[in-house]
Amino acid sequence: MTHAERIIILDFGSQYTQLIARKVREVGVYAEIHPYSIGQIELAALHPKGIILSGGPSSVYSDDAPLPEFDVFDLGVPVLGICYGLQLVAYQLGGVVDKAARREFGRATLVVDDTSDLLHGLSPTSQVWMSHGDHITKIPPGFERIAHTENADICAIRNVERKIWGVQFHPEVHHSNEGKTILRNFVTTICGCETTWNATSFIDAALAEIRSTVGDGAVICALSGGVDSTVAAVLLHKAIGDKVHCIHIDSGLMRKGESDNIIEMFKTHFSMTVDLVDGKDMFLSRLDGVEDPERKRKIIGGAFIDLFEIEASNFSDAKFLAQGTLYPDVIESVSIKGPSATIKTHHNVGGLPDKMNLQLIEPFRELFKDEVRAVGRELGIPDWFVERHPFPGPGLAIRIPGAITPEKLEILREADEIYLEEIRNAGLYNEIWQAFAVLLPVRTVGVMGDERTYENVCGLRAVTSTDGMTADWYHMPYDVLARMSNRIINEVRGINRVVYDISSKPPATIEWE
Ligand code: XMP
Repeated sequence: MTHAERIIILDFGSQYTQLIARKVREVGVYAEIHPYSIGQIELAALHPKGIILSGGPSSVYSDDAPLPEFDVFDLGVPVLGICYGLQLVAYQLGGVVDKAARREFGRATLVVDDTSDLLHGLSPTSQVWMSHGDHITKIPPGFERIAHTENADICAIRNVERKIWGVQFHPEVHHSNEGKTILRNFVTTICGCETTWNATSFIDAALAEIRSTVGDGAVICALSGGVDSTVAAVLLHKAIGDKVHCIHIDSGLMRKGESDNIIEMFKTHFSMTVDLVDGKDMFLSRLDGVEDPERKRKIIGGAFIDLFEIEASNFSDAKFLAQGTLYPDVIESVSIKGPSATIKTHHNVGGLPDKMNLQLIEPFRELFKDEVRAVGRELGIPDWFVERHPFPGPGLAIRIPGAITPEKLEILREADEIYLEEIRNAGLYNEIWQAFAVLLPVRTVGVMGDERTYENVCGLRAVTSTDGMTADWYHMPYDVLARMSNRIINEVRGINRVVYDISSKPPATIEWE
């Protein structure tokens, strides 16, 4: 999409790079991440109003230190270096970076020496978040200090004439209390950007772009029931009306009542018709007796594609396939991190576009999850839907270790529903990133009334996370756990024991398979 004004963030490998983009966008300015190795011509073609150099794990002195291929300080565009970015400023412009200086990790108190531009509006002392070993010990010629800490005599510097600023700490992280003010000062006062980027301006631009790309063609949209594909479908419908054909496949692996709820919501809220495809038999027969998690995932992915292909042939005018791809997926694929091992094969409608000669439309390839939620709200999608936890493509199949049967699915649906109901009743749903029940293929002995029982174990999982890449187990209050356990054991036939999962990711993953 073309944006009138944008800030470019060059990624040097920091775990916080995405956060910089998110924080700048929260200020109301569009920001985009590119690898540090981007070419000069390519960068100039983006017409950045400002450039931010991210942090990174390297030392500027190491042999494989990431260095831009050209002089980023000489483009006439304001530059802000963060952490490693600051060290790059010092290293390339004649300062000194010292590895041996006192290291500073975690919280530090920033003492502000100058509030005329970057640090305008900051308190005299402010908590900031440090995360790097190297420090600047000599300011480059032409620069001046604008802040320090007890351990770092030089913590923020600037050269107004050359339009270069640098900070040792991470203004983008939550623990830097006034970090957002710093980023706002940089993108507005220093770079001169207007703060006009928000969900409404995104929608206006996206509608125009969808209309011009699609022309007279029709678009097929695979609705998984998740937030991203739902918001995409509603956006497309607003742009091109009935020329978007929505298909939802009920794999038999959905949660209780889920497929019906999706169809109903589209009908009542948006007067949109969704084609409901009953795939239960096909999925369950292909999964019959399959225990291996990766095989399950592949079979499910394949079945989705096969069914979708048959269904889509009813819409022979369709030239496009809409997908709810998000920005983190796009950045992942161009990031400077090395290829990582396949932990799990993620299911999506991958192979489809090529196979069916469809062109992809991905209206959210520039958005983060919270931004898609904001777009969804703006489009009138109800809060209860927009705030839903993520749900994996393979559905309940990866929440029943071992072979899947209709009976096990039914037991899990009941337990999962009670679990989520209790989470909602306790007002905890929005505090938790994702919560679900798992049905373990383990039977244990219990006693109910005077009877011996020999039934399955139900595992409860709840995590906090920002992107699903890492996660902490959620500290569920004991009284809530007690209610859940009581209700599940009493109300769900087939379960006589409940356990709570207290594993973080890594080393565990969020799903059990
Ligand atoms: P893991 O289990 O890998 O999950 O820690 C991270 C996040 O991804 C979701 N997940 C999937 N989502 N297709 C999806 O669309 C998949 O195949 C898939 N597998 C895991 C998981 O629910 C969690 O939110």
